[in-house]
Amino acid sequence: MYEFLTGFMFWLSISICLIGMLVRIVLYFNGLNWQLDRVAYRAYPLQGLKGALQSIFKWLLPFGTYGWRKQPFMTVIFFGFHIGAVLVPLFLLAHNLFLKDKLGFSMFITLNPALADVLTWTVVISAVLLALRRIALPEVRILTTTYDYFILFLSAAPFITGLLSRYEFGDYSFWLTVHILCGEALLIAIPFTKLSHIVLFFASRAQLGMDYGIKRGGMKGKGLAW
Ligand code: HEM
Ligand code: HEM
Repeated sequence: MYEFLTGFMFWLSISICLIGMLVRIVLYFNGLNWQLDRVAYRAYPLQGLKGALQSIFKWLLPFGTYGWRKQPFMTVIFFGFHIGAVLVPLFLLAHNLFLKDKLGFSMFITLNPALADVLTWTVVISAVLLALRRIALPEVRILTTTYDYFILFLSAAPFITGLLSRYEFGDYSFWLTVHILCGEALLIAIPFTKLSHIVLFFASRAQLGMDYGIKRGGMKGKGLAW
């Protein structure tokens, strides 16, 4: 099982994830239509780029937007979850040793192991709080389906099983195998589920940022034809 998961399944899951994300990005931008959206994307590239970068940057900054400031509890648990969710899989020492062995190269920097533990615990605790938020707040509960809990669980599973391996809880090789299985399930799910937001967040923020930078406010009253 371990051989299969770290051999064929590793290559399959990483390829599906990377190619799938690329396809989702291309489809997103191909789907834009300046006449329907009523945004002159190509005619004002500089204003558009400025608006796009500004929008992405502000949303990646804790409390950087009005939306984040309005929901401080959500902001803290969101960033608690996401900082670890992005940094740990990419920069964990164990992952980079694995990558170096498989691909012959790895990231330039790796996380200090103690910091990796703290970030991982923070991801798990934040995932529980994100689930509780969905239950506790009526305005979120009304929009929540089993699918949302499934995605949250799928996202948290590699972190929970990563910790179980890390602390060598019970049978180490069992938990490591379950961990790799969960990690690969997550990688495969990314292009096909709302986890595609990992790349589409940047696409939709860029689109809306261009909309604001060019049309709404940005160039209003500055000679824009419509
Ligand atoms: C740079 C990469 C990423 C960005 C920019 C990003 C951004 C976002 C945003 C804007 C939301 C919506 C928050 C809201 O409801 O207002 C979200 C939700 C979510 N993200 Fe990410 N994300 C990224 C990476 C990831 C990764 C790697 C995972 C999984 C390991 C993940 C799992 C989730 C989950 C499960 C939710 C839903 C949380 C809930 O149930 O409320 N994200 N993300
Ligand atoms: C794709 C295949 C993957 C492989 C082969 C793999 C392999 C490993 C290995 C060997 C460890 C070290 C266990 C130990 O300490 O002895 C580990 C830990 C961990 N992995 Fe993965 N992993 C994979 C995917 C993922 C993914 C997709 C995520 C998250 C989205 C993830 C998150 C973690 C975490 C949080 C830990 C524990 C961190 C800590 O030390 O506190 N892994 N992984």
